[in-house]
Amino acid sequence: MASSVCSNAINFLLLLALASVSFAGNFYQDVDITWGDGRAKILNNGELLTLSLDRSSGSGFQSKQEYLYGKIDMQIKLVPGNSAGTVTAYYLSSQGATHDEIDFEFLGNLSGDPYVVHTNLYTQGKGDREMQFYLWFDPTMDFHTYSVLWNPKHVVFYVDGTPIREFRNRESSGVAYPKNQPMRVYSSLWNADDWATRGGLVKTDWSKAPFTASFRNFTAVGCVGGSGASSCSSANNTWMWQEFDSNSLQRLRWVQQNYMIYNYCTDVRRFPRGLPPECSLS
Ligand SMILES: *[C@@H]1O[C@H](CO)[C@@H](O)[C@H](O)[C@H]1NC(C)=O
Ligand SMILES: *[C@@H]1O[C@H](CO)[C@@H](O)[C@H](O)[C@H]1NC(C)=O
Ligand SMILES: *[C@@H]1O[C@H](CO)[C@@H](O)[C@H](O)[C@H]1NC(C)=O
Repeated sequence: MASSVCSNAINFLLLLALASVSFAGNFYQDVDITWGDGRAKILNNGELLTLSLDRSSGSGFQSKQEYLYGKIDMQIKLVPGNSAGTVTAYYLSSQGATHDEIDFEFLGNLSGDPYVVHTNLYTQGKGDREMQFYLWFDPTMDFHTYSVLWNPKHVVFYVDGTPIREFRNRESSGVAYPKNQPMRVYSSLWNADDWATRGGLVKTDWSKAPFTASFRNFTAVGCVGGSGASSCSSANNTWMWQEFDSNSLQRLRWVQQNYMIYNYCTDVRRFPRGLPPECSLS
C-alpha cells in the first residue's frame, strides 16, 4: 500500500517533470498583465491570452522573468478585419535611458491591405535601426510564431522559423551589442493612428472596436535573470551558439528580396552624415 502510494507519487512527479518539458508555458505562470483595466485576459487555463483596444484604452502584459540571452517564441493571431491605426507590439527590453531593446511591431491596416512588420533594435539607448516587411500570409487568419533569438553572436528575428532580420555582433568594429542588460518580454495593443497606417493617413475606425489580438504558446529558453552564466543552465543548447548556415542565409535573403519594404541601411537621406557603421560591415 505504502509503496504503491509512493510509486504513484513518483509517477505523478515524473509526469509533472515531463509536462514542464514538453508543453509550452502557461500565461498565469509566465506573465503579468500590466495595464488595460480588464482588457487583457488570460483564458483556457492559461493557454490563451487576449489583448484588446477600445477608444479609452489598449492593454498589455510582460514576462515575469528577465533574460540575458535567450530564444523567445510566441504565437500571435493579429487583429482581424479593419485594424488600421492599431499596433500590436511584441518586444524585449531592458530598463533605463541606455536600455537595449529588440522590437517587433505589427502595424494594422484596412481589411485586405497588408500588415507591416516593423522591427527595430536599440543598443545602449540608441535605436534608429528600423526595417519593415510584409508577410507571405494573412497574419489575422491563424496563429503564427514570431521569435527572437538573442545570443552572443547575433540577434535574429524569425517568422514561423524563417529568419527575416539579423543583427550581428560587431563589437570588434565598435558597434554596441546588447550583452549585459537583462530584458523582459513585453506585449501590448494600442492606438497609433497618428503614424501606423500609411504614415498616419488612415485612422482607427472606432466603430469596429474592440480590437483584439490573441497570444498562445509563449516559450522562452535562455538565461534567466541578470546573474550571468550561472543562470544559463541551458547554455549548451544549440540556440546559445547558433549561427546561420547556408540554408538560413538563403531564406533570409529570400525574405529580404521579396518582402522587405524599408531598410534604414539604405535610407541615405535620413543619415546625411553617413549611414550607421553596421550598415557598411559585411
Ligand atoms: C497598408 O496598405 C497599403 C496599401 O496596400 C500599403 O501601402 C501599406 O504599406 C500597408 N500597411 C501599412 C501599415 O500602412
Ligand atoms: C509551442 O512552441 C514550441 C516552441 O516554439 C513549439 O516547439 C511547439 O510546437 C509549439 N506548440 C504548439 C501546440 O504549437
Ligand atoms: C557543455 O558543453 C561542453 C562542451 O561540449 C561540455 O564540456 C560541458 O560538460 C557541457 N556542460 C553541460 C552542463 O552539459
